[in-house]
Amino acid sequence: MVFFSRSQADTEALGERVAAALPEGGAVIAMYGELGAGKTAFVRGLARGLGAEGSVVSPTFTIVNEYPGRRELFHFDMYRLGGADELFDIGWEDYLGREGVCAVEWSENVPEAFDGSEIRVTIEKTDENGRKITVEGLEIC
Ligand SMILES: Nc1ncnc2c1ncn2[C@@H]1O[C@H](COP(=O)(O)OP(=O)(O)OP(=O)(O)O)[C@@H](O)[C@H]1O
Ligand SMILES: [Mg+2]
Repeated sequence: MVFFSRSQADTEALGERVAAALPEGGAVIAMYGELGAGKTAFVRGLARGLGAEGSVVSPTFTIVNEYPGRRELFHFDMYRLGGADELFDIGWEDYLGREGVCAVEWSENVPEAFDGSEIRVTIEKTDENGRKITVEGLEIC
């Protein structure tokens, strides 16, 4: 499904809608998009929708931030990750087993992380504040 966002608030609101549409149990959300596309903004909305606690900041230096809540949110930033070995080092498999929501920035860098069951969110800049956001693998009402 394709959405058009005109502001950061729009992108956050879409993240919130996606959170509401997620099936029970664990979910993996693979995000794609260049620097400044709005991936972190989208995760902020997800967090709100999941009732996650704490303010969402980019986990660029920590690789993963954990937000407890009604449903746990694990927010990954794979920008600095080299490949499959490092995926193992950060405990990716353990996170998958925790039945929370794993939201992944820079999924481009870790194709090995995904088995095809993930939800894919691709954010493309159309202009300064415009974004085309494609969500695949999830029905949103
Ligand atoms: N429609 C929009 N949706 C999201 N962000 C927007 C939009 N229009 C402008 N912006 C701006 O774009 C920037 C998006 O930043 P954000 O940190 O979410 O990007 P990112 O994709 O996570 O980047 P990075 O790869 O560096 O982590 C913010 O400064 C935000 O205000
Ligand atoms: Mg980011």
